[in-house]
Amino acid sequence: MKDIYDDVLAHAQKHGRAYLAQVHEQPVFPSEEALSNLKTFEEALPTKGQSAIDTIDMLHAIGSPATVATTGHRYFGFVVGGTVPASVGANWLAGAWDQSPSSFMNSPVGTKLESVAAGWLRDILGLPDHLGVGMTTGATMANFTGLAAGRSALLRRAGWNVEEDGLYGAPEIKVIVSEEVHVTVEKALAMLGLGKKRVTRVPTDANGAMKLDALPELDALTMVCTQAGNVNTGAIDPIGAICARAREVGAWVHVDGAFGLWGRLLEHMTDAFEGIEQADSLATDAHKWLNTPYDCGIVLTRHPEALHHAMATVAPYFKAEEAMAPKDMVPEFSRRARGVEVWAALRSLGRDGVTGMIEGCCVHARHFADGLQAIGFDVLNDVVLNQVVATIGSPEELADIRALVEASGECWFGPTVWKGRHAVRISVSSWRTTAEDVERSLAAIAAAKAAILGD
Ligand SMILES: Cc1ncc(COP(=O)(O)O)c(C=O)c1O
Repeated sequence: MKDIYDDVLAHAQKHGRAYLAQVHEQPVFPSEEALSNLKTFEEALPTKGQSAIDTIDMLHAIGSPATVATTGHRYFGFVVGGTVPASVGANWLAGAWDQSPSSFMNSPVGTKLESVAAGWLRDILGLPDHLGVGMTTGATMANFTGLAAGRSALLRRAGWNVEEDGLYGAPEIKVIVSEEVHVTVEKALAMLGLGKKRVTRVPTDANGAMKLDALPELDALTMVCTQAGNVNTGAIDPIGAICARAREVGAWVHVDGAFGLWGRLLEHMTDAFEGIEQADSLATDAHKWLNTPYDCGIVLTRHPEALHHAMATVAPYFKAEEAMAPKDMVPEFSRRARGVEVWAALRSLGRDGVTGMIEGCCVHARHFADGLQAIGFDVLNDVVLNQVVATIGSPEELADIRALVEASGECWFGPTVWKGRHAVRISVSSWRTTAEDVERSLAAIAAAKAAILGD
């Protein structure tokens, strides 16, 4: 007998396949018509249930054209990866499973795949195999989780149990960030009661990396938030040297490597990442440069026990003997089995495939930088990874150029301000982008520039 799931999933699959087959040709930012059609969703809550198939059909008819084509070839906004095919397939199947890998008891397959994926992540990122790993919604929560472990460890060493006693009356933690700290690290500090303003900000060099000689003195109650991959330029802080100093006094070093940690795979970046394995905690994303579907962040730490202290929950309906169950290593208790897609992406690409993808994005970023310079833009950053920051004309003219490119539907990238200058920011993060896509995007940018500034 045919199951209702069968029909609904067949529709979803048909629409999903049709969407992905044309996504590289749909306007990268939705048309006015598609945006206006979103009003169709504003129905009154139906009293009686509607057909499930009709619901999926409506989702495709109205929803698909109003998507930003981030899984296509020419989306260069924020730092948004595409999705490699195996990870989308795994995501669909995992959706059918609907597993919450809180513990082995909840999901043997979910916990097994997350632990295999964790091992592969440590391996491919060149990190020690004793690191504890947790899967979060994204780098924001991975930063939060790593810093929570740091807060717990530093205070515990000072004789204070922050999980039990909170922060009132606790020894004071000194937090050091770069002046280029990502806003989500600041958010994590705010959520942890450490405050966004109560930090020491270290000046950065021209490309946005922390100046080592400006690093204040560290001590056993210091947490240093470093960055591997500045969100604008891709710059990498001198993490190895900072870790060496921290080691001497027992300070905690956290690395926000949301996308940049994957630069570890690049041969020409070996020196920049030297010593990063000494960091106490690291955060990265799979949904950015590993090209898995949203949402998937990863926290790694040399101190799994500190992470466990910070995140563990005890409930009589869980088996006590399951040490370091996923629910005890991240903030979420119930969540989706996001490690399934990480496992599928890593298995389908292999070490060579992932390295090739990362290298390819960097080659395309360089291509963009050269092409932009050739049409009169100033490239403001040293293109060390996949990020390009460029500017031309006045801020208003630049905004008009960006708007014309967006309206062309050919590609999409966002605005930024870099060291006081209005600029555009191009991030090449998708496995699908090719040299032809870069050329096609450069042609759209050149046409927009000619329309606003003349040839
Ligand atoms: C350097 C950096 N850190 C943290 C984040 C936050 O990541 P997520 O959006 O996955 O939470 C980003 C996102 O762009 C980032 O670039």
